[in-house]
Amino acid sequence: RSSPVFPPTGLDKMPKQENGQKGDSLIQNDLNESFEEEVRAFLSDEEKLHLFDDLTKVNPVTTTTVLKCLQARYRVNLFYTNAGCSLVALNPFQPFSCLYSPELMRKYHVALRPQDLKPHIFAVAEQTYRNVQNQMEPVNQSIIVSGESGAGKTWTSRCLMKFYASVAASVISPKGSETVERIERRVLDSNPVMEAFGNACTLRNNNSSRFGKYIQLQLDRFHHLSSASIQTFLLEKTRVAYQAPNERNFHIFYQITKGATAEERLEWNLPEGAEYRWLPNSERNLDEDSFEVTRAAMCHLGIDRSTQSNIFKVLSGLLHLGNVQFSNPVDESQPCELEGETKGFVKSTGDLLKIPVEELLESLRIRTITAGKQQQVFKKACSRAECETRRDGLAKVIYARLFEWLVLVINESIYADPSVWTSFIGLLDVYGFEAFPENNLEQLCINYANEKLQQHFVAHYLKAQQEEYAAEGLQWSFINYQDNQHCLDLIEGNPLSIFSLLNEECRLNRPSNTDLFQTRIEKALSSNQCLSRDRFSKKPNFIISHYAGKVCYQLAAMVEKNKVGV
Ligand SMILES: Nc1ncnc2c1ncn2[C@@H]1O[C@H](COP(=O)(O)OP(=O)(O)O)[C@@H](O)[C@H]1O
Ligand SMILES: [Mg+2]
Repeated sequence: RSSPVFPPTGLDKMPKQENGQKGDSLIQNDLNESFEEEVRAFLSDEEKLHLFDDLTKVNPVTTTTVLKCLQARYRVNLFYTNAGCSLVALNPFQPFSCLYSPELMRKYHVALRPQDLKPHIFAVAEQTYRNVQNQMEPVNQSIIVSGESGAGKTWTSRCLMKFYASVAASVISPKGSETVERIERRVLDSNPVMEAFGNACTLRNNNSSRFGKYIQLQLDRFHHLSSASIQTFLLEKTRVAYQAPNERNFHIFYQITKGATAEERLEWNLPEGAEYRWLPNSERNLDEDSFEVTRAAMCHLGIDRSTQSNIFKVLSGLLHLGNVQFSNPVDESQPCELEGETKGFVKSTGDLLKIPVEELLESLRIRTITAGKQQQVFKKACSRAECETRRDGLAKVIYARLFEWLVLVINESIYADPSVWTSFIGLLDVYGFEAFPENNLEQLCINYANEKLQQHFVAHYLKAQQEEYAAEGLQWSFINYQDNQHCLDLIEGNPLSIFSLLNEECRLNRPSNTDLFQTRIEKALSSNQCLSRDRFSKKPNFIISHYAGKVCYQLAAMVEKNKVGV
């Protein structure tokens, strides 16, 4: 076994062994040179680089040697490489159907030792399955799929689900009605539905997941799929009312506006060619725009046509709400005015959402304040900006509730009483690390989740490997690995952190001043080495040095985004 100790080198920034003896600088220089010589020698054998199917066999292990091997493998269409007990998957960005065929699934499933076959997601899947099967007592297993946005996590999770739907297929067909699909079908059909409502086209990925997902595939005592349960995390609901330049809203909005029949257009008030402010870049046609796929999957999950129609009416109502525009009144004590066309959109929103128009208008334009000992109720006309915040807040809350409800319905469709299953395989697919030209609360939360996963990975992986060496009695000096605790402290620490300051700012019931907030953050957290600021930018901001890179977050609207009230 090659030893993963990383001697100091100028070639890359791999973690260094920190508890080694510091030698004389001359010896150190010699060491550096001979190490760099080793790296060069390793890389010179270009023809052989793609043969390294396990990155722990690369010697010496450096960022350069590892990346060169992965690159060499990519060139010859080898997209999977082991790295000890984990698997590195590269995104081919083109279909390779033979890579995921049912025959290949079978090959890994029946292999005596699947880990001896070529590295593949199916090898991981099969090993995980055997770990569950081979125990006397029921054990559970989970697979974490992590990587940057667009790396292929959701694709990989889908492959894993297909694998288990095939090798662990249930033996019993559902009782009763013929319209109830087999559990495997329903589990797989949860994907297109949740992706239609929870994915969107971003600058990094045309089908970017805007929520995190953890699915448990539950197995009976014969290790057949009996049921499943899905938990979702933090849907990016701000996207309903705001889409960054060149990005899109959730796929489902484009699906209904492009795919509705003439009859449905009438019923949902979606005339052909109508324009919606919350539907940018709809001229771009994506594979993800297929309404039929979503509807068929919804039917398989037991969501009937009339319920579907109600859902799409609500979505259409939100599109109409997005077209409602306010203008400041001549007399400030009066509610904001509505332009001619806007009046029509308020009416259609009210009709589609089944809210009386007067009530809708009042909730958008008038603030009710309860104050004093007698709990007196005052009404105050909102400014134009406040009306817009209320409109957007209403849309976000309705969409988020609709999404929650959908997850609930899907869960009911794939549920089984816990007495039916004995173990599970969990799959975690969370949104990947993101850094856009403009980043805000959404990216902060996404990157925070990834920072937490990274910490789990580093602790679990390095600790597990080192414990294994110790158990095997290998001569081994322990590595003090670099962890990302400082970065996590900066984001979530107690009592002072970005999150605590943000929450405090939200509790103060006043419009936030971003310049002051920036100063507060800097004063309170200046001692943390992961915090800095883009001093050339005129906009208030802060930079966090994440494990995956630096990200500059804009402070404008961050406090408001953290509030979202209705
Ligand atoms: N193994 C693969 N084979 C072919 N295409 C892939 C593969 N993995 C990813 N892709 C392509 O890359 C896109 C982004 O992958 P996705 O899984 O959505 O990324 P992530 O979930 O990590 O953000 C997919 O829509 C698909 O087009
Ligand atoms: Mg994804």
